[in-house]
Amino acid sequence: MSLHCENISYTELAERFGTPLYVYSQAELDSAFARYQTAFAALAPLICYAVKANGNLSVIRRFAELGSGFDIVSGGELARVLAAGGRADKTIFSGVGKSAAEIEFALKSGIKCFNVESLPELDRINEIAGRLKTAAPVSLRINPDVDAQTHPYISTGLKANKFGIAMEDAERAYLHAASLPHLNIIGIDCHIGSQLIKLEPLVEACERLLPLIDKLAAHGIGLQHIDLGGGVGIVYQNEETPDLAAYAAAVQKLLGGRSLKLILEPGRSLVGNAGALLTRVEFVKQNGDKNFVVVDAAMNDLMRPALYQAYHHIENAEPSISAPFAADIVGPICETGDFLAKDRMISARAGDLLVVRSAGAYASSMAGNYNTRPRAAEVLINGSEAKIVRHRETLEEMLANERDCL
Ligand code: LLP
Repeated sequence: MSLHCENISYTELAERFGTPLYVYSQAELDSAFARYQTAFAALAPLICYAVKANGNLSVIRRFAELGSGFDIVSGGELARVLAAGGRADKTIFSGVGKSAAEIEFALKSGIKCFNVESLPELDRINEIAGRLKTAAPVSLRINPDVDAQTHPYISTGLKANKFGIAMEDAERAYLHAASLPHLNIIGIDCHIGSQLIKLEPLVEACERLLPLIDKLAAHGIGLQHIDLGGGVGIVYQNEETPDLAAYAAAVQKLLGGRSLKLILEPGRSLVGNAGALLTRVEFVKQNGDKNFVVVDAAMNDLMRPALYQAYHHIENAEPSISAPFAADIVGPICETGDFLAKDRMISARAGDLLVVRSAGAYASSMAGNYNTRPRAAEVLINGSEAKIVRHRETLEEMLANERDCL
């Protein structure tokens, strides 16, 4: 039987919209969000979807409709959230290098909180808030020095990483923040990494923040919320991912009687497995005894295999159409690093359609134009309905910002 997204076959979608094509299931977005709400129901957290995972306006709008807040890392992402009907007062601004212009934009928009990563950033936000005659709501991102046990490029909670304020400097940083007249200290946060497949580091990070919260209270600095950062990992291959209910129970136990609102910033686990990337086989070629399936999607569409040696499951949209064989599945880009999969058993003939799984997160949002390749179209499926939520980029659009002025 042909593979489907909700009620529509991938084969039909590729025929209607062309390839490469990102396909997202609205039902999967909804159920991923509901999984967090159900697991954490007792804590009634503010879930702030991490826009960087997939910033498509329709994806943001759907999460806004479901009641989500947003975690952003740039003025660009704030503009997306506002354009898609997201609420500024449920939006938190993370990131290690916020520019003055971005801070001003966020303050004027009335965001919920800045997650601040350094003393100079505190000073900058204070100065801008003073100039705008307002008080900026801030939380300090503390680096708990916990090993998230994930790929080194997406591990963020170790001392050696550029992120956050070191635990031993945290108290001093809060006292500095309290001395600044235009800041309103409301929270504490951490984020230790992404694609976390172990629960223990997440729980340990939370545990490490608690004594600090109590120390701050003794200084008269009372916090309103604790933000535990990104979400749990997802299944790409055969990972055993953390159980959300167990995570929620552990956090609830740790927070005990403290009246702290919980904030979470999941990205990947809300969108990753709601998306697939469709790609057409151009050629099947052999170099010596090695097989290559050359497809029309490439590292500019899906960087994860090249950047993190990431695994994405790939299958023929019409299963058992032909006998599988071992091959590398590669794109047309002129780099050896341009592959979607290595040494995979795949059934593929020229003209066949392949489905690259788990491509809802950090796929289209990390896409680019390398080799002057237009960015792929994106469709959102709701039952039997398919809506284009990003049209395929044209050659004119790709060249529009450049000038040939010699
Ligand atoms: N909050 C902050 C401050 C973050 O830096 C991130 C992700 C998140 C939340 C969301 O984490 P998640 O729930 O998605 O694990 N491009 C990489 C992932 C980079 C993640 C960066 N930060 C990848 O494709 O694996």
